[in-house]
Amino acid sequence: MTLFPASRTRRSGPGLAALMALVLGLAACDPASGEGASGENRAEAEAPSSATSDFEPAALYLTWTDDPTTTMTVQWQHRWEDGYRDPALGWREPGASEWTWVVGHWDPFPFSDRIINTVTVEGLEPDARYEFRLGRLEQEGPSPEDRSTDGFRFVPDGPLSCFRTLPRSAEGLRYAVGGDLYGDPEVYRAMNRTLASEGVRFALIGGDLAYANGRPDRIEKWYDFFRIWEEEMVTEEGCPIPIVVGMGNHEAHGDTYEDRGRGTVNRSPYFPRLFAFPGPDMYGLLDLTDDLTVLMLDSHHAEPVHGAQLEWLDAQLELRANSGREIIPVYHVPAYPSVRDFEGDISTRIREHWLPRFEAAGVRVAFENHDHAYKRTPPIRGGEVHDDGIVFIGDGAWGVGVRDVHDASATWYLERAESLHHALVVESVGGVLEVRAVGPDGQTFDEVRIP
Ligand SMILES: [Fe+2]
Repeated sequence: MTLFPASRTRRSGPGLAALMALVLGLAACDPASGEGASGENRAEAEAPSSATSDFEPAALYLTWTDDPTTTMTVQWQHRWEDGYRDPALGWREPGASEWTWVVGHWDPFPFSDRIINTVTVEGLEPDARYEFRLGRLEQEGPSPEDRSTDGFRFVPDGPLSCFRTLPRSAEGLRYAVGGDLYGDPEVYRAMNRTLASEGVRFALIGGDLAYANGRPDRIEKWYDFFRIWEEEMVTEEGCPIPIVVGMGNHEAHGDTYEDRGRGTVNRSPYFPRLFAFPGPDMYGLLDLTDDLTVLMLDSHHAEPVHGAQLEWLDAQLELRANSGREIIPVYHVPAYPSVRDFEGDISTRIREHWLPRFEAAGVRVAFENHDHAYKRTPPIRGGEVHDDGIVFIGDGAWGVGVRDVHDASATWYLERAESLHHALVVESVGGVLEVRAVGPDGQTFDEVRIP
């Protein structure tokens, strides 16, 4: 939540807005409230050559909670042993002489000695690169009597980093899609490295990230997941590659809604706190560009396939009806499984409740996961192969062990099915969606062009 959109003053010194931002930032630290606050102000920047770093965050990653063409959400973790730190960062156009600083909010990382900091930067230009540094807020003046409401200044002490906003149009925009990530650390690392070398601008993750299952004794999996992501998922410009996540069964005790009963946050202590998007609802949508929308759906883990999520889905699709937007659903359990049973309960529910809505919304491709193999279907509409149908691709084997698949030649809904690690590289070229399945060795082993 941004409280200061109108106070984006472009002046050189910290002021009242800074103090209010700080106070509100602190007031927003109640994790139960789920509320955040941000403000911003200007502080003098040091020359890039003097950008030494005294503070190393335990993890740093980018995502979006708002328009990716004009905002960026920066999240980082620090340890309690680093002492209290305000959730503050400064950003600027490359080489600019001033930092604009913003205060966000923090939440505890459950079962951890870490704090999760979240700041959303607003008012950016599309397809533009910016620099940022984490920092501290210091009170100026030798004694409390000398401190006025103007008495805070931003002191950058984190490493110099950067981000790039998305362009207005998805034409030519390359991004990664996949799921089921952190199983074998070396495969996960290699897959990340391959995708970074492919020049993807962001990654859409359809669940099963770290396989912590919400368990305190598996917290190291999250640490490793973020560490390897941060080490490898870096653009050619040196910026972290933003991650947009959805949930899988391993974000919710490894089970499903029906196995565990309703209960979103309690069944998933880590996921909604670690990632600003999709946040507490654990499903959500982002209008990534002016012509591309991603639906991040919960396939029956914290929320059932039907019910409130379905009502929300109907409302969101109606808002975008006839907009000409490409709508891309990403979710965990496949409607058309390459490994598991076609008659599986969740797969059946998805085919019944979601697919007719996708078809009515003009969806061309849906990305599925969870089965730990590679699959691609022919276009399917109304439960049969159809020229005007949706192609279902994926089945989630980014970095986990792969499984034996159904025989594609004997399964009506499978055009390809193989026990292969992969992630998908997606690009719209002249209105045609090009999807390539890429292995951790960098080889493209399947591709499809969807008109
Ligand atoms: Fe799964």
